[in-house]
Amino acid sequence: MNITFCCAETKSEPWLVGLRAALPAAQVDLWQPGAPPADHAVVWAPPQQFFDEQPQLKGVFNIGAGVDALLKLRLPPQAVVVRLDDAGMSVQMAEYVCHAVIRHFREFDAYEAAMRAGQWSYRKPRRRADFAVGVMGLGVLGERVARALQMFEFPVNGWSRSAKSIDGVRSFCGAEQFNDFLAATQVLVNLLPLTPETRDIMNRETLSQLQPGGYVINVARGAHLVDEDLIALIDSGHLSGATLDVFRTEPLPSDHPFWQHPQITLTPHTSARTLREESIAQIAGKILALEQGYCVAGIVDPVRGY
Ligand code: NAP
Ligand code: GLV
Repeated sequence: MNITFCCAETKSEPWLVGLRAALPAAQVDLWQPGAPPADHAVVWAPPQQFFDEQPQLKGVFNIGAGVDALLKLRLPPQAVVVRLDDAGMSVQMAEYVCHAVIRHFREFDAYEAAMRAGQWSYRKPRRRADFAVGVMGLGVLGERVARALQMFEFPVNGWSRSAKSIDGVRSFCGAEQFNDFLAATQVLVNLLPLTPETRDIMNRETLSQLQPGGYVINVARGAHLVDEDLIALIDSGHLSGATLDVFRTEPLPSDHPFWQHPQITLTPHTSARTLREESIAQIAGKILALEQGYCVAGIVDPVRGY
């Protein structure tokens, strides 16, 4: 069995070593133009040329959860596309989102500024019941986040395409329940995949429906959010701020207004990193399972887009 590795912005050698150790019977090579045909590919943001030269692939393993960039390419029609299925990401996402929600709810930025100014002062405790957190997307990551938030006794709403039954989570589904979900939400967390249906989903009209003083946490994709609409709603006072981990253009251009906005907290697409060891173990296991004719979790539906 031949496996080809083509991952932009990734140090290839440790991945090749790890894949060879996990699949000792396979030939694992770094892809180069003109490389021989492989059975399976391990990829992140490959060029179109890669698929044009590998039309026989059976499996394409994305070393991330989101496949929006991959699905823009022309893929071999018979190849199954497999996304990372947690592989150590959901716990990172849960800690990132809980941190952002708690930092906002407990006003830790204000405390930090006051202490730096030498002021020993208290702020009035806020009512947890007034801080319903709404998680858009209740998949592998969103469900873990929704469960983690409940540990801190925030009211939790969830919105997904199909109805869910998660203990303690008020579930909304489909376009028809989206407005009710927004109206019931104070802190909006985005964990949707980027698809034609979800692009620009956080815009002036939708974000205006959040409860006054609402807060936005975007950890999915930058193109879910209309940047200028977020800024306008924060500046008008309807929203109180945002924590953003993902951006339309990454790295975030140096002249983007997000950099200087005092109510916006930024991180560089780091909320849930791909962990090499966990990912290699998962991908190797799935390659072997597929080769033996078994079904595996995390197969992407190209029509749905996730
Ligand atoms: P997932 O398991 O595929 O879950 C996607 C969820 O979104 C599902 O609950 C799905 O509903 C829901 N959904 C999809 N389209 C919808 C629509 N039109 N309306 C309502 N709900 C919709 O994905 P995941 O593993 O949780 O990952 C989510 C996203 O997080 C990824 O696609 C990626 O963009 C992002 N991500 C970011 C980072 C980072 O570091 N910032 C890291 C990893 C992933 P159903 O359950 O009904 O299908
Ligand atoms: C990261 O953004 C991923 O999709 O895994």
